[in-house]
Amino acid sequence: MEMNILEFDKVAREVFAPIYPVIAEQIKLKTGITRGKCLDLGCGGGYLSIALARITGLNIHLLDVSQEMLDIAASNIAENGLEARMQTLLADVQEIPLKDKSVDLIISRGSIFFWEDQQKAFEEIYRVLTPGGVAYIGGGFGTVELKKQIFAEMEKRDKNWNEESRKRIGKHAIENFREKLQNAKIEVFELNRDDTGLWIVIR
Ligand SMILES: C[S@@+](CC[C@H](N)C(=O)[O-])C[C@H]1O[C@@H](n2cnc3c(N)ncnc32)[C@H](O)[C@@H]1O
Repeated sequence: MEMNILEFDKVAREVFAPIYPVIAEQIKLKTGITRGKCLDLGCGGGYLSIALARITGLNIHLLDVSQEMLDIAASNIAENGLEARMQTLLADVQEIPLKDKSVDLIISRGSIFFWEDQQKAFEEIYRVLTPGGVAYIGGGFGTVELKKQIFAEMEKRDKNWNEESRKRIGKHAIENFREKLQNAKIEVFELNRDDTGLWIVIR
């Protein structure tokens, strides 16, 4: 993936920071899962997971392909005193090193757009979910107000950001995800696209 790790983390800390608690609340409200095992796919610096750990009793595995990202996540976990309930996991989403039916809640923000084989990733997600488990995956900015604020700030930093971001969550993205989900033989899913982002809910 072409992404400067330290640069992304700087943006997450300086610009994206306010969205994580908002999205964590939305995940809690939508899924109702507050206990058991959670898996964050493409966790980055772990900000979404940390926000979710603060408002639930979940045990969270933070998975990423980048050891550098996981090092940042580990230091953020320690800073928040959450080591007992959170652990990092170096792996690719296309090959999740966890047992079948072992995860109650899967979360993922801003990562799916980088997955090479999304169908394989969906198959893996479906394999590790417990019966009754839920996956909440996609990209977004919490609220319309936050999204506006972030787009304004990001445009100052990167001229192409607006267009690239729109492409990721544009209409064609919905059709692409629907096809991949169906090919992965996932029967119950929701594809939600609104002014704050695009989220897939798998049950
Ligand atoms: C834009 S960042 C988002 C990070 C974090 N979820 C957030 O919202 O702040 C995307 C992350 O996905 C990870 N990633 C990309 N492809 C992946 C894959 N195939 N398996 C696991 N992680 C992946 C990257 O290393 C990166 O940390």
